[in-house]
Amino acid sequence: MDIPKIFTTKEDIANWSIRRKEILKLFEDNIYGKIPDVSFDLEEFGRCEHLSLENGYFKDVYRLWICRNSKMCGLSVELFYKKSSEPLPSVFIVDPFSNNPYIRPSALERLRIMDQNWYIASQGYICVCVHVDEICFDDPDRYKWGFFELLDKDDNNPTSAISVWAWAVERVRKHLESNPIFDKSRMIVSGCSRAGKTALWCGANFEGFTGVFASVSGCTGAAMHRGKTGERIADITKQFPHWSCPKYAEYAGKEESLPVDQHMLLSLIAPRPLYISSASEDDWACPKKEFESCVLAGEAYRALGKRGLASEEFPETNSPIIGGDIQYHIRKGPHGIYMYDWEQVIPFFNREYS
Ligand code: GCU
Repeated sequence: MDIPKIFTTKEDIANWSIRRKEILKLFEDNIYGKIPDVSFDLEEFGRCEHLSLENGYFKDVYRLWICRNSKMCGLSVELFYKKSSEPLPSVFIVDPFSNNPYIRPSALERLRIMDQNWYIASQGYICVCVHVDEICFDDPDRYKWGFFELLDKDDNNPTSAISVWAWAVERVRKHLESNPIFDKSRMIVSGCSRAGKTALWCGANFEGFTGVFASVSGCTGAAMHRGKTGERIADITKQFPHWSCPKYAEYAGKEESLPVDQHMLLSLIAPRPLYISSASEDDWACPKKEFESCVLAGEAYRALGKRGLASEEFPETNSPIIGGDIQYHIRKGPHGIYMYDWEQVIPFFNREYS
């Protein structure tokens, strides 16, 4: 099986910034579509709530508004953090779930996620939840409500929900980076599942994110296409055509002819620290192929003077492979993101940033 290469010539290593752009363009043209590139008549970002809680914890709510051609849309952002006299590292959480009527989390699930947000805050990080589906709905028939309505017909801006979500998280990061509570050199983008795919695409495009974590991102996320089991391009483009550019569907059943594979997406995050996690009961995402992609992306990390995965042997469940600038674990249990995942991820970034 021919796997496309990160580096095709020796020059590619020496001229990584050029090769990087070529790879990015291949993903844009064949999978994710263009990241929006438009200016707005008005863009506002401001804090609308500040809650001071017990024991020096805070919760803030910000809103981002964009206006163009007399139309406007916006999204909300929640921050969870602990008082500090020093600027703090941050974890941005791509959240396309909270307003989705099909998969809206139950009250219990929300509590579980809230616990994770406060856990991240307790570890000295600012947890920034960006509710991206408020700007671009996660539904094939309705994703053009909101953000897309602001574009002109001739904007030549074919894109996808994943590209709009990735762009929105970057806009929020850009607004927050000048806020003195943020340490600009330690800003991580993260997401679970469809949001994990988005976090990878966001990290690949925007180098202001200095670390990336994607959990159970599977097909169109960390998992290699070639040889993948579970969800394939045919499945994802049928059920979620709005996540990708139209061209992607042409590769359904023809994964071999894609000019890229997902290890090349991970390579675009190098040399920044990268965490990929899987779940043992998640055959749909295909953990072995998520792992393989990490192994192969190591080539880019090594070429840039960093370490890839510390071991190339598929690990036991709940045994993270520690010691590289890419870290991987497979959690025992179902698809989703759990406290166990964060308990491995935060110490990894602490080590990387120390
Ligand atoms: C579906 C989809 C996956 C996606 C997941 C999720 O299962 O097929 O690709 O990752 O939803 O976002 O939870």
